[in-house]
Amino acid sequence: MNKTYSIAIDGPAGAGKSTIAKRLAKELGFYYVDTGAIYRTVAYFFDLWGVSPKDVDGIERYIDELTVSIEYDEEGSQHMIMNGMDVTNDIRTQEISQKASLVSAHAVVRDVLLDMQRDVAKRHNVIMDGRDIGTVVLPKADVKIFLTADAEVRAKRRCDELLAKGQKAVYETVLKEIQQRDHQDTHRAIAPLKMARDSVKLDTSHLDIDGVIAEMKRIIGEKIAL
Ligand code: DC
Repeated sequence: MNKTYSIAIDGPAGAGKSTIAKRLAKELGFYYVDTGAIYRTVAYFFDLWGVSPKDVDGIERYIDELTVSIEYDEEGSQHMIMNGMDVTNDIRTQEISQKASLVSAHAVVRDVLLDMQRDVAKRHNVIMDGRDIGTVVLPKADVKIFLTADAEVRAKRRCDELLAKGQKAVYETVLKEIQQRDHQDTHRAIAPLKMARDSVKLDTSHLDIDGVIAEMKRIIGEKIAL
């Protein structure tokens, strides 16, 4: 089989990972894999079943009832399919963000999703974003980038994003939620958010989207002949 290329992008919530990765994937002709969406789908499933994201026994009991898969439409956009249902839009709420952060801490959840993520990267050139892509999912990724920004900047971006979608957003609340998620995602025992040793750190606090894209292309171009 021909070699496939993989680009791992990790970083905290709101650092711009998905916006940037989506655009880059389009330009490079790679598949974009948003792994946060997979954890969100799991959180949404247990939410529907009335199982708390902290209730590891309940999660273990019902996880076999969940089938989660990724599909791509003609435009290359990722859709999340939960037991045959397209839940792509349902998983984009602040409530599910928090629940995804909690549900993703459990080994049983991470184990179930690991092969699925690796399998996409085996078959396609991918730009995959998440928290543990460079450290756990694709430790041999061709390029690893750790995308970050100050919490205040990330909260402002997330607010703008929610407001643009017609959802309610109060800056102070969003900031608090982001800080809480940062803490949970970096302090969990399994696959916590951390920078891989061979990752390049890119702070986007003072860059606009075009600036980040240009810098990312430069970093990627050093490792992969584009
Ligand atoms: O990227 P996101 O905000 O959609 O991710 C939602 C949550 O999912 C995040 O707070 C932690 C979890 N997550 C994870 O544990 N590992 C990943 N690779 C991606 C997301």
